[in-house]
Amino acid sequence: MAYGLLKGKRGIISGALDANSIAWKVAEKAHEEGATFVLTNAPIAMRMGEINKLAEQTNSSIIAADATNTDDLTNLFSQSQEVLGGKIDFVLHSIGMSVNIRKKIPYTESDYEYFMKGIDVSALSFHKMLAVAKKLDAINEWGSIVALTYMAAQRTFPFYTDMADIKAMLESIARSFGYHYGVEKKVRINTVSQSPTKTTAGSGIKGFGDFFDYANAIAPLGNASAEDCANYCITLFSDLTRMVTMQNLFHDGGFSNTGVSTEVMQKFGIE
Ligand SMILES: NC(=O)c1ccc[n+]([C@@H]2O[C@H](COP(=O)([O-])OP(=O)(O)OC[C@H]3O[C@@H](n4cnc5c(N)ncnc54)[C@H](O)[C@@H]3O)[C@@H](O)[C@H]2O)c1
Repeated sequence: MAYGLLKGKRGIISGALDANSIAWKVAEKAHEEGATFVLTNAPIAMRMGEINKLAEQTNSSIIAADATNTDDLTNLFSQSQEVLGGKIDFVLHSIGMSVNIRKKIPYTESDYEYFMKGIDVSALSFHKMLAVAKKLDAINEWGSIVALTYMAAQRTFPFYTDMADIKAMLESIARSFGYHYGVEKKVRINTVSQSPTKTTAGSGIKGFGDFFDYANAIAPLGNASAEDCANYCITLFSDLTRMVTMQNLFHDGGFSNTGVSTEVMQKFGIE
């Protein structure tokens, strides 16, 4: 059921790789809620061609941009305003990649070139997006920018390796930039800390399947799906959350505040 929450709003949605991507669901929901938007992803991701289907389905344009490249981002924000016919109201940063995770390198033996690459792609890209948007004055007052993160930024999940540190940086950028952008332009910036979700990025993590089941057994409401996450992002893009900024918002069915569940205790034979 749609509520017209984003009627008349213009957005940029990054990170829709395939139908499992969280960003894909956000785009579908944003379309249902009346927004018009540009889809963006790294030029290399375009080769899969999947994003064309989403563009067709949501009546959107695609502008390729490597989120680590400020020229690409400048082009993205200027072109998007032209295509959409005005300043932007919402942006989704849904970008994450760790070469150390991909290559299954243990955290204590992290390769530093790969670490730097992970920081650039998954955290600094957020700062770069925000800096470019601010420089171009591309976001409307009360605009809303959301990046996706994971709870390993606060608590240790050993298999998340360097991405734990990288997500901590991402969340810090939301707070720091949120202050400056808020004071100057009333633009709000938040991170959503999502449950484990079966996507290309998620499934690349060692032992992801078992961990997914564990988190599901701990969280009183179970794991939040990509679709649930999309719904939450829509509320954050809407005018109903105008005073929410600089927050890291847990969207995890209660996982983050649960020490242990009866279901998990029973697996250890404890009644
Ligand atoms: N899947 C999970 O369990 C989970 C949980 C919490 C948070 N997240 C976060 O959600 C976000 C989206 O991930 P997802 O799970 O939907 O997986 P996904 O693999 O579908 O999306 C990751 C996206 O990042 C894009 N990307 C990578 N390098 C890029 C670059 N240089 N420039 C532009 N785009 C680039 C990829 O092309 C891809 O579309 C990530 O930040 C991820 O860390 C995922």
